[in-house]
Amino acid sequence: MDMAGKTIVVTGATSGIGLAVAENLAGQGASIIGIGRSEERCRQAKQRLCSAYPNTQIEYCKADLSLQSQVLEAGAKIRQKLSSNGRTLDGLVNNAGTFTYWMTLTPEGFEMQWAVNHLAGFLLTHELLPLLEAALSARVVTVSSASHYHTHLKWDDIQLRRRYNGLLAYRQTKLANVLFTAELNRRLGPGSRIKAFAADPGLVKTDIGLKNNPGLVAWIWKRRRASGISPTEAAKGIAYLVSEDSIQDSADIYWKHASPKPPDPFALDEKNAQRLWALSERMCGIQTEKIQ
Ligand SMILES: NC(=O)c1ccc[n+]([C@@H]2O[C@H](COP(=O)([O-])OP(=O)(O)OC[C@H]3O[C@@H](n4cnc5c(N)ncnc54)[C@H](OP(=O)(O)O)[C@@H]3O)[C@@H](O)[C@H]2O)c1
Repeated sequence: MDMAGKTIVVTGATSGIGLAVAENLAGQGASIIGIGRSEERCRQAKQRLCSAYPNTQIEYCKADLSLQSQVLEAGAKIRQKLSSNGRTLDGLVNNAGTFTYWMTLTPEGFEMQWAVNHLAGFLLTHELLPLLEAALSARVVTVSSASHYHTHLKWDDIQLRRRYNGLLAYRQTKLANVLFTAELNRRLGPGSRIKAFAADPGLVKTDIGLKNNPGLVAWIWKRRRASGISPTEAAKGIAYLVSEDSIQDSADIYWKHASPKPPDPFALDEKNAQRLWALSERMCGIQTEKIQ
C-alpha cells in the first residue's frame, strides 16, 4: 500500500513500540494521529516526528485511555478532525499498553490492565469504525503478545478482583486482543474493506515493566528486556500489517515479524470470542449493531 495520503491513528505513540510504529509509518508518508496520556510526552513525540519528517502531517491527541470517557472524547475529536476535512481513516493501531503489578482500579472502576490493554482498543475501534468503513481499505492492528499463549479467560472473575495476579491479568488482556481481532473480522464479514490483525512484536527493549511498578519488577524487566529487539525493529512487523496490500484477504489473524503464526487455540474458539465481545459491550455500555 502506498502510505502517502493515508491517515493512521496509533495509540500509545509516545514511547516504545507505538512511537516507533508512528515513526515508521510517517517515514512511509502516512499522516499520523498519535494518542498519548501525557501532554508533555505528546509534545516531545510530535516534535521528534516532525523534525524527522517535516513534510508529513503529524498530530497528537492527549487521552488517558484507562478512562472510557477519554476514549470517547478522543474518538469524537478524531472523527470531527477528519470528517471536517473530508478525510477517512486508513488504519488504527491499538498499541497502548501497561503492565501493573499491583491491583489498580481506574476511577471508573475497571482493573487498569483490562481497561487500557483491552477495553480501550475495543471502544476506540467502535468509535472510529465509521471513518474506517469510509476508507477504500483499512486495517485495525492490535498489539498482542506471546504472553497470550497457554492462558484462559477467567470468565467468573475476568478482572481478577478476587485474586489478583499482575502477570495473569496482563496475559488475559493479550489473549483478549487476539479474540477481539478474530471476532471483529468475523462480524465485518469476508468481503469487508476493513481487516483486523493481531501483532506479536516479540520481546522488545522498552520501559513497559519500569512504569509504576515495584523495584523488583523493574529489575526483572531490565534483565529480561536485555535480550529483546529494538522498538524500531519491532515496529517493522506492525507497520507491515498496516500497509501490506497482499494480506487484505488473509485468513491469518496473528502475526509475528510479518509472518503468520497460529495463536493459542483458545483465541480461535468462536464461542470465547463472542462471549468476550458481549461482555466488552456491556462494560463499555455500547451495542455494536453496525457489525453483528
Ligand atoms: N515490550 C515488549 O516486549 C512487548 C512484548 C509484547 C507485546 N508488547 C505490547 O506492546 C505494546 C506497547 O508496549 P511497549 O513495550 O512499547 O511499552 P511502553 O514503552 O511503555 O509504551 C506503552 C505506550 O502506551 C501508553 N500508555 C500506557 N498507558 C496509557 C493510558 N492509560 N492512556 C494512554 N496511553 C497509555 C504509554 O504512554 P507513556 O509514554 O505516557 O508511558 C506508551 O506510549 C503494549 O500493548 C504491550 O503489551 C510489548
